[in-house]
Amino acid sequence: MHKIDIELIEMTMDVMKYTIDRLSHTKQKIGKPQKAEELKALVGETITKEGIGGEYAFNLWKQHLAKANVPVDHPRNLAFVPAAPTRAAVMFDLVTSVSSIHGAYWMEGAGGIFCENEAMKWIVSLTGLPEGAFGVFTSGGTAANLSAIVTAREHWREDETYKREKGLIITSIGAHSSIKAMAKVADVDILLVDSEEKLTGTALRETIDKLNFHQRKRLFAVVATGGTTNAGIIDDLEGVAQVCKKENIWFHVDAAYGGGALAADSVRHLFNGIEKADSITIDPHKWMFSPYDCGAVIYKQPELAMNAHSQQGSYLDIFKDEGAHGFNPTDYQIQLTRRVRGLPLWFSLATHGTDKYKEAVERGIELAQIAGKMIEEDPNVELVREPSLSCVLYRRIGWKPEDYTHWTYENHNKGFALVTPTKWKNGNAFETVSRFCFINPDTTEEDIRMILDTMT
Ligand SMILES: Cc1ncc(COP(=O)(O)O)c(C=O)c1O
Repeated sequence: MHKIDIELIEMTMDVMKYTIDRLSHTKQKIGKPQKAEELKALVGETITKEGIGGEYAFNLWKQHLAKANVPVDHPRNLAFVPAAPTRAAVMFDLVTSVSSIHGAYWMEGAGGIFCENEAMKWIVSLTGLPEGAFGVFTSGGTAANLSAIVTAREHWREDETYKREKGLIITSIGAHSSIKAMAKVADVDILLVDSEEKLTGTALRETIDKLNFHQRKRLFAVVATGGTTNAGIIDDLEGVAQVCKKENIWFHVDAAYGGGALAADSVRHLFNGIEKADSITIDPHKWMFSPYDCGAVIYKQPELAMNAHSQQGSYLDIFKDEGAHGFNPTDYQIQLTRRVRGLPLWFSLATHGTDKYKEAVERGIELAQIAGKMIEEDPNVELVREPSLSCVLYRRIGWKPEDYTHWTYENHNKGFALVTPTKWKNGNAFETVSRFCFINPDTTEEDIRMILDTMT
């Protein structure tokens, strides 16, 4: 398995050919899932005692299995939060893999971690956080949110009074599901402000004022969102920051999706107040065009994250010695062994420069505005709310929830587009609506037109 022979060289060439083809392909179909039994019938037994051989296995992948995936970078994939990794970043993902770097400690991964940190400096600079703030790349927004919540909780519990208290955090129903899920993992209670629109400082103030004595004692953090997943709404970060400061509670901003827009001059002002955060989540694998998986968590005071996350063990002591000393990514988030997943982003940023990132993000925002106009001019559809960041919520007049589902499947089955429905809170009711989220700058106005036309 570990020897170098002609078969290995041939396989390498095949993989390179496949890579070049995939990287330069612009007309791929949107794949669709098949049942596991159907896939099994197509490929047969693949894990056997003797092995089926690389060439055969690769052919199974190309002929059957690759087609059962939905490419996130398809220009008409506007569902959830899609992605559009740059070709430079994807190529360097191959380099990252082939380099076999353990990215937990500087001692083993100094070169790779150095590159990650160069990219991180740019991301931190976008936030406006003060000198000393820094971050680390994580497996995604979920892991970043968990790392931040645990840091905040551990910092709060440094005070003896809270050692045996179960923590409480406040966020809004617009917050991403991972906040609720990670609060569960960290065993903290969560209180949701019941509005999917902007969480304001005033609403937060009122929520805190309604807490009883014990709840207030247990409250240690507030999570605001810098671009909600459903609608691209940015909370009133300045107002929330002021309340957090006054109440001495940790202020976390989940900008996993919206964080890329910090680079966009047209909307940067909407994030004012983010520079007062104690921690921020930003996912480069969403709107910073990195391949999966690449999230990031940034701390105003990274030493607090180190207190919470640094692992101890006799076998790890060497990493803390002089000489091995440098930035150890493992100290600032929940994972020990890690891929240097910020390396593809570094290469792409170094290749293209930050201005190109700004332009590509601005294009996503522009596409949302263009889609908004098309919807306003189309008698069959109407906007549910003004487009925000790169999200557009709209309804097809007269459609019931099942019509949206049927339409989604129809377009997906044809390999034409993936646009999924969502729900929007309208008074006390939840209305099923359609949603676009633009990330890929290669999506065209024609793509949007064609998708809307399928709703007639
Ligand atoms: C605002 C927000 N936070 C967190 C997440 C979770 O990120 P990930 O899927 O990278 O774990 C998402 C994902 O869409 C998100 O939009």
